[in-house]
Amino acid sequence: MLSINGGRPSVEHKAIKTSVLHGLILLPEQGKTRARRVFDTIIPIDATGGSVNVTMSRIGAPPEETPWHCAHLAASASLRLEAGSPTFKMRRTRRDDASDLPLVINSKTQLKFNMNAVQFASRDKKLALVQVPTPVISHPREVLVKVAYSGVCGTDLHIISGNFPCNPLPLTLGHEFSATVVDFGSEVTHLTRGDRVVVDPNSGCHKCGFCHSGRPHFCTTGGFYANLGVKNHGGWAQFCLCSVEQVHKLPKEISLRVAALAEPLSCLAHGWGLISPVPVGANILVAGAGIIGTLWVCLLHLHGHRRVTLTEINPSRRLLLKELMDDTGFQLKTPQDVQNSGANFDLIIDCTGHGPAIESALKLLDRGGKICIFGVAPPGAKIEVSPFEVYMKELTILSVKVNPFAFPKAVALVQALSEKYLDYEKLGVKVFELEDFPRAVELLKTGNITKAIFQISE
Ligand SMILES: NC(=O)c1ccc[n+]([C@@H]2O[C@H](COP(=O)([O-])OP(=O)(O)OC[C@H]3O[C@@H](n4cnc5c(N)ncnc54)[C@H](O)[C@@H]3O)[C@@H](O)[C@H]2O)c1
Ligand SMILES: [Zn+2]
Ligand SMILES: [Zn+2]
Repeated sequence: MLSINGGRPSVEHKAIKTSVLHGLILLPEQGKTRARRVFDTIIPIDATGGSVNVTMSRIGAPPEETPWHCAHLAASASLRLEAGSPTFKMRRTRRDDASDLPLVINSKTQLKFNMNAVQFASRDKKLALVQVPTPVISHPREVLVKVAYSGVCGTDLHIISGNFPCNPLPLTLGHEFSATVVDFGSEVTHLTRGDRVVVDPNSGCHKCGFCHSGRPHFCTTGGFYANLGVKNHGGWAQFCLCSVEQVHKLPKEISLRVAALAEPLSCLAHGWGLISPVPVGANILVAGAGIIGTLWVCLLHLHGHRRVTLTEINPSRRLLLKELMDDTGFQLKTPQDVQNSGANFDLIIDCTGHGPAIESALKLLDRGGKICIFGVAPPGAKIEVSPFEVYMKELTILSVKVNPFAFPKAVALVQALSEKYLDYEKLGVKVFELEDFPRAVELLKTGNITKAIFQISE
């Protein structure tokens, strides 16, 4: 049944015609009202009150066996909004039987439209700065953080261009952020308000075979807070809700500003484990000088590698990284120059996410060589590989998917790299206000910067 539990969720009337209703759906599970789902819905608010039809769609994890992107269960109900200064009262007037799941709107739902967020609506591929309700703690293991710095990365550009699946509902993007803890549920005992943290955007269901065998990044359902910024609301907002398992405290030596790079570094840390061992002295090619390729350059240098070539097709990016290249003594070339040189490599790390680039790179592998597909190609991309050549050269082709259990390593990496390498100027990273998101995205798209980071608080 759909009901509003006796309470009086209220909407602060700000003379806006449309806003987002944010709340909780409680799904009784085996007789207990345990599982929760966060939902958002667009709700037209008429200053005079009256009935409106609202469609509610689940944003949280789908039933276990269903891939999340297919499982956005929708249920509709007619809600009545009564005008009343300065708040509206809301009550159920009708239930739609289309859904067989019992839905309950929690009476504790606070509807204060007082938080700025940049949301992406996949239906019309538009980004917009909107005011949404500040999330509230509603579960004992939940943590609410105040976002400090929040990154924009290549994956966000894939999402914005429609090449990477994301939640179809208006979604706050942002999966790379540092923050401070502002609130938490009763079971959270090791955090204090004001703690400086980074948030792992990924989490598993803790129930499936993949999660139980230490591979939560293959979990098909994810937890309630899985894929922040892709499936659930992320960090391009003033506040973000996550689970306690996703929060990692920062040592005092690490600034919130530089900690915004912890998430991409967590993926590199996982990748480092997969490509290892890499003998010092190996001839290494990193393809693609976005922030990911640039961070790989730093990591390789930190580990003592000196025979490293970085390729990049975009002249602005090549220019941007000149100082870092001078510092490391690494080569920065066009892919064409590398091909013409006839060089072969022991290890190639693709950071382009571009099918043809990966195909060309494979041909540059030396005997016994290894290629790491780190870049995320569009789902439909195809490449041609010669199995004979793979046999003859004993090639290894491996890939890296995000960051299972890698956040502690990432925090350590931020610390190890920060003094010498993580200088935003040299890395081509630029900091923006959240309101300046169109310029941030545009500069990243054109390659005039390697990364945009929103400074949201601090
Ligand atoms: N595997 C993971 O867990 C993981 C984690 C984070 C990001 N990624 C992926 O890594 C990739 C890089 O991320 P980013 O933020 O640096 O993206 P980006 O788009 O800013 O950088 C990619 C760079 O590759 C360059 N490029 C394209 N074709 C090339 C070619 N043929 N030769 C050389 N350079 C070429 C582009 O000009 C661009 O500068 C993205 O695909 C992203 O989705 C993967
Ligand atoms: Zn990212
Ligand atoms: Zn799982």
